Amino acid sequence: MSETITTPHRIRSFHARRGRVSPQREASFQELWPAFGVQVEERRTDPEAIFGRRVPLVVEIGSGMGEATASMAAADPDRDYLAVEVHYAGIAHLLGLVETQGLTNVRVARGDAITLLTRMLEPSSVDAIHVFFPDPWPKAKHHKRRLIRAENVAVLRAALRVGGTLHCATDWPEYAEVMLEVLAADPGLVNTTKGYAQRPDLRPVTKFEQRGIDAGRPIADLIFRRT
Ligand SMILES: C[S@@+](CC[C@H](N)C(=O)[O-])C[C@H]1O[C@@H](n2cnc3c(N)ncnc32)[C@H](O)[C@@H]1O
Repeated sequence: MSETITTPHRIRSFHARRGRVSPQREASFQELWPAFGVQVEERRTDPEAIFGRRVPLVVEIGSGMGEATASMAAADPDRDYLAVEVHYAGIAHLLGLVETQGLTNVRVARGDAITLLTRMLEPSSVDAIHVFFPDPWPKAKHHKRRLIRAENVAVLRAALRVGGTLHCATDWPEYAEVMLEVLAADPGLVNTTKGYAQRPDLRPVTKFEQRGIDAGRPIADLIFRRT
């Protein structure tokens, strides 16, 4: 399947990689995509048309293999979860979880989260945004690719309803400090606590979090609210 990611003139926060999937997973992707997949496009879309109901919406940016989306959505049936990811193998994996776990409140969007938030969803329409273990882009020359930087945070905040929350987690201490600074500096966000937040019980350990734990890195959660 060809990539149809549309992000002209913008510095991307992701690696352009397709990822290998088994023939079985490719077949399951083809089967499940029509029911649970959403192509990111530059066109307004009503979540009610995607989910078939109107309840608070959670967007998870960079869902990876989808462990957090599936687990948190299963525990939170009264909200809908829209995962957005560019990595084909991860999308295919989450589609499989949606099917095997019978999750009715999850859809998987393929493409750039910034396009999804600015072009598809209405401003002030999202109840919560989750950004778990975004690529740390550790080299200084790559910091401009980080998802959590002032310009993108303004986009995330604009998508949230007043009172909605932005929950980030990282295993990269220097990025955690930058996140804290950038989120605190945003004029429309306020920290829900002093400094880093307690890890919420409902957030499961993901593949990338486990890598950080195995490497001995501390985990930081940050939870801000739109004012
Ligand atoms: C380091 S992985 C973390 C995945 C997962 N959240 C976890 O904890 O295991 C970051 C993911 O974010 C995705 N990503 C980065 N920028 C993105 C964007 N602008 N839109 C959608 N996905 C993005 C990448 O493709 C990658 O799969």
